[in-house]
Amino acid sequence: MLRNKLPGKGTTIFSVMSQMAQDHGAINLSQGFPDFDGPPALRERVAYHMGHGHNQYAPLAGVPQLREQIATKVLDLYGCKINPDNEVAVTPGATEAIFCAITTVVHAGDEVIVFDPAYDTYEPSVTLNGGVTKHIALHYPDFSIDWQQVRDSINERTRLLILNNPHNPTGTVWSDNDIQQLREVIAGRDIHLLSDEVYEHIVFDTKQHLSLLRYPDLAARSFVISSFGKTYHATGWRVGYCIAPVPMMEEFLRIHQFINFSTNTPMQYALADFLHDCPQHHYELGNFYQEKRDLFCALMASSQFSLIPSGGTYFQLADYSAISDEIDTKFAARLTREYKVAAIPISVFYKQPPDQHVIRFCFAKHKDTLREVAQRLISLQSPEGGSDSNATNSSQ
Ligand SMILES: Cc1ncc(COP(=O)(O)O)c(C=O)c1O
Repeated sequence: MLRNKLPGKGTTIFSVMSQMAQDHGAINLSQGFPDFDGPPALRERVAYHMGHGHNQYAPLAGVPQLREQIATKVLDLYGCKINPDNEVAVTPGATEAIFCAITTVVHAGDEVIVFDPAYDTYEPSVTLNGGVTKHIALHYPDFSIDWQQVRDSINERTRLLILNNPHNPTGTVWSDNDIQQLREVIAGRDIHLLSDEVYEHIVFDTKQHLSLLRYPDLAARSFVISSFGKTYHATGWRVGYCIAPVPMMEEFLRIHQFINFSTNTPMQYALADFLHDCPQHHYELGNFYQEKRDLFCALMASSQFSLIPSGGTYFQLADYSAISDEIDTKFAARLTREYKVAAIPISVFYKQPPDQHVIRFCFAKHKDTLREVAQRLISLQSPEGGSDSNATNSSQ
């Protein structure tokens, strides 16, 4: 008989809500992907490379041209000089990089700290390696980190801290103080860092992304992971990368070779060309999404949702306690069925779901999609408002 290696874990909420959106003909603002394609010039380069013989296995660590472009990018953006030959690996999405990084450092019984609400791939990867996940909840409603709690949670078994900045699902971004506190809590300890920075280019309001690559002392113990899927509106291509110092990268590649060996070849050549030809794309991405965030927030201003400020990513949290006291999984399901808008309940990203009424919308959508969604959501009123009859039932 098969014994479940991930007891208590069902199908990821992203698949569940996307399927529900499809079943009910709802607009899908749940899973984090755009409803538009990436730049035509980039797609043209994929077709070009497919037509010019780049269809066999890529090298284990990735196509050299792409690794060089990644090195150029992190030098330009973060002043970080990496060796493209041995400090970067291209992976099938950030997801595989996260699994490999966790597998690289976590042995049976090791402890790993994550911050809830936590992206749902972290804990299963720790569990599959025999590790133990320690959850620290971010403070509601600003979702800041309680650094004293981090200090108190670290012990001699702590091997890894998993950080996510800009943060999915909350949209928080790190401050200089967070960096300083991080430095202090890990000082003198044999702890590695996994910095999930897949939304590195989507930071708003003139803030700068504080990549751990900016800080040589932190980069020296970090796996810094990003996703071309998020940056180039191409999540289905499954291309991401990991940067780490040589000894960590050697071990990472030892594992990566037996999981996926290598990553899509024509996509890698195309991304290398595009990074070289159009670096402005990633420089302009923050403004591109800020416009969508601002539009969505303006459209939702007359709704009864209370929007929690988003400083980065393409997600917007919304508190619906003025509308209903249903738990968020029920509320999100009803929103999909009855109002034809799918969102993500955020309690599923917690070990101990707090008493919150918050769901996540993905605003990486055409402006017309956002307008249509807002129109539907504005029609949702509190029980007293009269139009949301089911909410009345649920709150009885
Ligand atoms: C925080 C975070 N990390 C990692 C990933 C996975 O990225 P990829 O699609 O490149 O595997 C996602 C995707 O939604 C994410 O939001």
